[in-house]
Amino acid sequence: MEKVNLVSGMRSTGKLHLGHYMGVITNWVQLQEEYNCFYFVADWHALTTKYNETENLRQDKLDVVLDWLACGIDPDKSTIYFQSNVLQIAELHILLSMITPNNWVERDPTLKDMVKILKNKDGDTSENMPQLSYGLLGYPVLMSADIMAMNGAVVPVGVDQLAHLEITRDIARRFNNIYKTELFNEPMPKLTQIPLLLGVDGQKMGKSFHNDIKISDDEETTSKKIMQCITDRSRARKDDPGHPDKCEVAYKYYEIFADSETVNQVNCECKAGQRGCADCKRQLGKIINEKFAPIRQKRIEYSKDINKVRDIINEGGKKAAAEAEKTMAKVREAVNI
Ligand code: TRP
Ligand code: SF4
Repeated sequence: MEKVNLVSGMRSTGKLHLGHYMGVITNWVQLQEEYNCFYFVADWHALTTKYNETENLRQDKLDVVLDWLACGIDPDKSTIYFQSNVLQIAELHILLSMITPNNWVERDPTLKDMVKILKNKDGDTSENMPQLSYGLLGYPVLMSADIMAMNGAVVPVGVDQLAHLEITRDIARRFNNIYKTELFNEPMPKLTQIPLLLGVDGQKMGKSFHNDIKISDDEETTSKKIMQCITDRSRARKDDPGHPDKCEVAYKYYEIFADSETVNQVNCECKAGQRGCADCKRQLGKIINEKFAPIRQKRIEYSKDINKVRDIINEGGKKAAAEAEKTMAKVREAVNI
């Protein structure tokens, strides 16, 4: 049986962190076996909010792909590309924007959240819907074009993206109705269960919060960051009995990165006051460094051969464009343009 097409993208945020790894990338790696995967860096989407901060855009895009390759996204199995290398996506975006009612995008809750965050960053805490840029308002329409151009049937996303996906399904249906065709299927979201990985300070892990551990961090940097992890705040001395369930970050990392035997041991020793937090975090740093050592090694090798990485991206772009061109030939025909 032929594999169905799966499409997913990430905005070009630069080097990815362990939260991306545990949530999204491990999942993408597995999906490669079951689906014909199209994985792309959504650089146009990055511009919907960061149009005036493009100094690092090219490096950021490359860094995302380097992380993917290091983690096992395999160019022999999956199509890896930059969104902006597939001009057919822009063409489809224009055509879809013509048929998308204003209020569909205006009421998109994910978009409203994005706008709220943007506003807050600039010190404006107003809950009111602010003026949107034309491009940002089109965010879910562009996402629809990403998916529909590749004839995507399955789209792995986190729960925050489901509202966008709902719009994609509506747009696909509307296109078929208006142009009396069955060209598009309604792509199904595949919800990614994302284990919550907090930043070292106990807040949401994120680049802008400076509390993240990058996949590409070296051992020393990782160890240092792990030593900053929040532990059981009620514990004063190392032979006080600790509370793993109140150890806000370090123990949670153990649960995610260590084997169950180790987790049990940490749990018992902590409760018995036989384990100091500093030693505990030193061990945690080692465990994480061991886990990521082969990935980091692979990343270093790819970065030494950056032309090969560019080739992979260019080849992927050609393959994606060929797929999108097949769709667009039918779309132009259906629209009579
Ligand atoms: N909006 C997605 C995010 O921020 C990224 C994205 C862009 C995407 N286009 C897509 C995801 C198409 C899936 C399919 O995570
Ligand atoms: Fe957390 Fe380990 Fe300290 Fe216990 S000993 S509180 S598990 S860091």
